[in-house]
Amino acid sequence: MQLPDLRAIVTGGASGMGRAFTLELARAGATVTVADLDEDKMAAVVAEAEALPGSVRSQRVNVVEEAEVAAMIEESAAAMGGLNALINNAGIFRDGLLVKKDKATGELKKMSLSKWNAVIAVDLTGPFLCTREFAAKMIETGTTPSVVVNISSLARYGNPGQSNYSAAKAGLVADTKLWAQELARYGVRVGAVAPGFVDTPILQGMRPEVLENMLKAVPLRRVASPEEIFLAVRFILECDYFTGRCIDVDGGLRM
Ligand SMILES: NC(=O)c1ccc[n+]([C@@H]2O[C@H](COP(=O)([O-])OP(=O)(O)OC[C@H]3O[C@@H](n4cnc5c(N)ncnc54)[C@H](O)[C@@H]3O)[C@@H](O)[C@H]2O)c1
Repeated sequence: MQLPDLRAIVTGGASGMGRAFTLELARAGATVTVADLDEDKMAAVVAEAEALPGSVRSQRVNVVEEAEVAAMIEESAAAMGGLNALINNAGIFRDGLLVKKDKATGELKKMSLSKWNAVIAVDLTGPFLCTREFAAKMIETGTTPSVVVNISSLARYGNPGQSNYSAAKAGLVADTKLWAQELARYGVRVGAVAPGFVDTPILQGMRPEVLENMLKAVPLRRVASPEEIFLAVRFILECDYFTGRCIDVDGGLRM
């Protein structure tokens, strides 16, 4: 698919990587809906894209709410004059060890069920709902080709302190494969990108010494820019022979 032909939804497009994906797509002439919870940040992205060749609109959605997702897909398709791409990028993390014993008091601290549920909801149920509604729309309208890009994470291999996030991001790659298998007959491709450390507000909030320590494990010794992650997203969008796989973009962290 050619980028100027895209009518794409980017979930979580108000910040970090989603913002960069939206602006890169608009720069290439695509039509984009930013679908996010944060209306102020969405408005800023829409304003920033005004001078670019493509066009960007915003749509408030909570990706964990079934009815909101269904309405967002319908309204976005109508407003953009069609729909043929979905980037499942919205995500959160709520880290904690499964169980931890306090050295001083001996007290056991457990990852709470609410932390588990919150991350599974946004990072796994969200993409499930968005992809289901997107695929239904593609089949209903006979739109082909079309493409879904799931933003996973290197945590898919299992990161201590991230039971919830690792499960969601690994589950998303498993679903990438099976959605690719189930949907190929309708002309829908599905791919995933698993970034390592990326320069977004999450990382910018980290203490420099913590970040430096984390980067010791990265052969390229630096974080990625969101635009570097976009190159993998772009490959999946453009390459009509790619489906069912995940591209790790991690500076060599997991070889
Ligand atoms: N930053 C990294 O180093 C990194 C690494 C690997 C993977 N990722 C993944 O990349 C994606 C983007 O990460 P980021 O660092 O740009 O994050 P970010 O926090 O900068 O942006 C996430 C966006 O998602 C939106 N969002 C959160 N919950 C939502 C919901 N329920 N419904 C709709 N929108 C919602 C937020 O409002 C925000 O605009 C996430 O899926 C994240 O897990 C990030």
